[in-house]
Amino acid sequence: MSVAEDLKAHGITIPVGKYQGHAKSQRPDPDPELTATGPGTLCGEYLRRYWQPVCMTSEIPDDRPLRLRIMSEDLVAFKDKSGAYGLLAANCSHRNTSLEFGIIEDNGIRCCYHGWLYDIDGTILEAPGEPDGTKIPERVKHGAYPVLEFKGLLFAYMGPAGEQPEFPVYDIHEQPNDEMVPYSITYPCNWLQVMENTVDPIHTVFLHTRITEVQFANSWGAMPVVKQYTPDNHIVTTSTYRWGDYVWLRAQDVCMPNHARIGAFLYEAEEPRYFWRSALTKWTVPRDDTECMIISWRHYGPDIDPDNLGKPEEVGKEKVDFIGQTMFRDYIERQIEPGDYEAQVSQGLTNVHAAENLGQTDVGVATLRKRLREQVRGLADGSQEPTRPPKYGDKHYGYVQDTVFPIPPRSSDEKEDEALRGEISDAAMDIILEADSLPTAEERTARIKERFQKLHEDPRFSA
Ligand code: FES
Ligand SMILES: [Fe+2]
Repeated sequence: MSVAEDLKAHGITIPVGKYQGHAKSQRPDPDPELTATGPGTLCGEYLRRYWQPVCMTSEIPDDRPLRLRIMSEDLVAFKDKSGAYGLLAANCSHRNTSLEFGIIEDNGIRCCYHGWLYDIDGTILEAPGEPDGTKIPERVKHGAYPVLEFKGLLFAYMGPAGEQPEFPVYDIHEQPNDEMVPYSITYPCNWLQVMENTVDPIHTVFLHTRITEVQFANSWGAMPVVKQYTPDNHIVTTSTYRWGDYVWLRAQDVCMPNHARIGAFLYEAEEPRYFWRSALTKWTVPRDDTECMIISWRHYGPDIDPDNLGKPEEVGKEKVDFIGQTMFRDYIERQIEPGDYEAQVSQGLTNVHAAENLGQTDVGVATLRKRLREQVRGLADGSQEPTRPPKYGDKHYGYVQDTVFPIPPRSSDEKEDEALRGEISDAAMDIILEADSLPTAEERTARIKERFQKLHEDPRFSA
């Protein structure tokens, strides 16, 4: 007699289809094509074709190097006494002692063990224990990457030598009246699940508003219409909310592969506002396959934060001025009021896509993974170069924005209002994309604001 028959004989029945713990206990594997970023991996090679921030320049002391781990490579960043930044492979080319214990010199860094001196480009300038005329400087090349400093962040190009793209400066990196404060936060999990947060706007309704308490603003709790637009190398996710007689249109902008821009998040949608830009501009950079960093700027100033709700003094290494972004909270508090950090890190060291069940609201996540996979494979098989943003005038344009339109519902029918909000999103994106042809960011911004301020008069949207 089987166990089931035996139980049945005793009048015990086990409901079929419930209690699937055992059936689900063996987890599938992660997806290394998108999540593994070490040297020679498909995604790692792809990410290396873009300038990546590796640290804040404020982290690099004047007299010592900074040890870093980026995409599973051990590195040291330093500033020599001439003021030039360098990024070198950590292990000395002589006998592998770590250059994190090196001495900063006028030009380069000197290994502590036998005194080899390295220039910022990896050239060996001296091997002082070797006889005069040694061929070591010609024979040995040390691993080095080109770097540049931009607004308090140090960026590196870690792809093949000579193939580095131009460093892309976007309009949102140079907004007028904008104070940009760098910060960096460690996430002990794979980079992709942290990156995906920006293309998952529905989480803000629940995680940040309805599930716990209101973390940012009450209007986050309205269920938005979510739409997606993919101009050139961007994934723009719009969320369009109904809040009384206002329609709040929020566009989050992911620039492939790992650069994201987030709009103002501390303001209620209670009065009109037009084309506010980035409140937070970030890259998600892998340290290795189970740890990553958000390396970012918070933006402050009268245009993005006119009521001074942000706290720039609370922003820096492992800290930022809004809740739920770091591990540095009491565990019980994190359980009672979880934030982005808890949601993303707890997906696992590397989130297992095969164990997920995506729904309609996950369109952003699906799009990001699809695009990433296409580009990763395209680079690997030689069919596609990594996409680069087009340039207008001297800059690239971004799509992050927040606008609150004074557009009341056309009717009390909820479905009808969802349709209206979808149309407003399309109309607004048309206006933005049409303005892309303008040669300066100032002209583009002025044109968009002017047209946005009149959108409520459009017969399609007026009651
Ligand atoms: S190990 Fe660095 S100089 Fe010998
Ligand atoms: Fe969030």
